[in-house]
Amino acid sequence: MNRIISPSLLAADFGNLQREIEMLNESEADWFHLDIMDGVFVPNISFGMPVISAINKLARKPLDVHLMIVDPDRYISTFRKVGADILTVHYEACTHLHRTIQAIKAEGMKAGVALNPHTPVSFLEDIIHDLDLVLIMSVNPGFGGQSFIENTYNKVRDLRAMINNSRSTAIIEVDGGVNDKNIAKLEDAGVNAFVAGSFVFKSDDPAKTIANLKTVK
Ligand code: DX5
Ligand code: ZN
Repeated sequence: MNRIISPSLLAADFGNLQREIEMLNESEADWFHLDIMDGVFVPNISFGMPVISAINKLARKPLDVHLMIVDPDRYISTFRKVGADILTVHYEACTHLHRTIQAIKAEGMKAGVALNPHTPVSFLEDIIHDLDLVLIMSVNPGFGGQSFIENTYNKVRDLRAMINNSRSTAIIEVDGGVNDKNIAKLEDAGVNAFVAGSFVFKSDDPAKTIANLKTVK
């Protein structure tokens, strides 16, 4: 399977959002990763519906929406309306995760579950066959630019084994501190999709950085 690159707009220049989106449209990026933070589930607030709508009008690739919010059930249909294609909720934020996943799919979106660094992948055993995507957090959610947590490789290997031993077709995505030094090792461990924020947007030539991430060994 081809590496999926999902640049996180959290690290983009918000004063020139249209230019950043057009750059991603022209680049080898596969998805747009949008980080939604509510200041409750994580100690930061990012952006919400009006900004997602504006991005959706310009973006020509799927919107990969990562919800770092409590009680995501309240907004599932709204996220569909503003353009989300993949909707990922946090395991730690959902009391009735099975119901939440069904609701996301009923809206016609792909359903993902994100795990914080401390949450074992084994907690997904009884729902893995219902998921389109599992997002392994390789930093504590809330901020871009943090360093990669090495235990992520073990989690990815465990999750890959769980998926291969089940009827699941879930994609494995990793988010946080991804760069040209760890991407190949993550892929070897079983990752399909890679979120990269600062490594892409703080580089001199983001489009070239994305192209390099697609193939670097
Ligand atoms: C962190 C977000 C990430 C973040 C990644 O809470 O979920 O998507 O933007 O940024 P980098 O690649 O800079 O770690
Ligand atoms: Zn994210």
